[in-house]
Amino acid sequence: MPQHKFIVCSYTQPLTSGTVSWQSPSNIALAKYWGKYGEQLPMNPSISFTLSNCNTRTSLSFEKKNSDGFDFQVFLDGKREVSFEPKIQKFFERVGVYLPFLKDFKFKIETSNSFPHSSGIASSASGMSALALCLMDMERQMQPDITDGYFNEKASFLARLGSGSACRSLEGPLIVWGEHAEIEGSSNLFGTKYPFEVHENFKNYQDTILLVDKGEKQVSSTVGHNLMQDHPFAEQRFRQAKENLSKLIPVFKNGAISEFIKIVESEALSLHAMMMTSMPYFILMKPNTLEIINHIWKFREETGSKICFTLDAGANVHVLYPETEKGTVLQFIKNKLSQFCKNGEFIEDETGLGASKILN
Ligand code: DP6
Repeated sequence: MPQHKFIVCSYTQPLTSGTVSWQSPSNIALAKYWGKYGEQLPMNPSISFTLSNCNTRTSLSFEKKNSDGFDFQVFLDGKREVSFEPKIQKFFERVGVYLPFLKDFKFKIETSNSFPHSSGIASSASGMSALALCLMDMERQMQPDITDGYFNEKASFLARLGSGSACRSLEGPLIVWGEHAEIEGSSNLFGTKYPFEVHENFKNYQDTILLVDKGEKQVSSTVGHNLMQDHPFAEQRFRQAKENLSKLIPVFKNGAISEFIKIVESEALSLHAMMMTSMPYFILMKPNTLEIINHIWKFREETGSKICFTLDAGANVHVLYPETEKGTVLQFIKNKLSQFCKNGEFIEDETGLGASKILN
């Protein structure tokens, strides 16, 4: 069912050619999205920290054309990347009804990531949100009176149609996606800023991403999401995610990091438990993922540190900790954890405020 709010009937200003560029960050979910229905709608609400250093920069050059159909080429780091094009084709097909001008232009999409392509960090969230923002930028040039609120909401809505988690990458530092009874304004259609009080303890929260396995994922997120459809624990899992999000509300308010740790680590392990118990079943963690988790637990017990971990759909470990512990935790990562990373590599990141326009 098309969302009429986001359908435009006509534009007031002509547009013939130009270039728009946006930079958009990655995000890391604290309560996880795993399971979708319909057209990219989540089975449960999720919440994420928007990151800062891991991001995608996308330039969209456009030129008016007369021929039929979509016409675009994708370049990664200056080189044509045809393997990205089926995903973009599908995205254009999905968003075409909301962006009626898409077939009127020939596009060149030039993209680059701040993190290496083979790092195992998904570029779909940052990439799809940057592209959605470029397209909204074009729309704003043809309809200059749209409000910033509409611009952001529709950009997030479009990004979601490219990749679910992408709708949480436009703003920051905490974004909710999916309806939740206690969070006013939350929606299955787009991400919204977490509306309640957040304690100082969570300001500039640190996320150091340990690159355990840099290979291609054996199972794509989309396949994994679909396996939740006949999953024996699906209902319980969706309820758990909702409850965990409810529990996070007072935790964010009071700054109770010990409680935060319990919820966030349990969410990460529950996500992977869903993978291990679907049919077919699969395991994305590697032996070094477990090594790292055990070392984090030991370090926490021995030092009283508030370090914890989360995982996305892969083997890499996101190490989360308060800014006040930056020195000691980074030392621990270098001394103890980096040996479990491919080539000893990790990426230092922290929470950020979302996407920004790049002036051409
Ligand atoms: C485990 O957003 O990559 O990172 O909607 O199919 O593109 P698609 O999936 P995607 O799934 C991300 C799943 C996750 C959890 C999360 O980010 O909430």
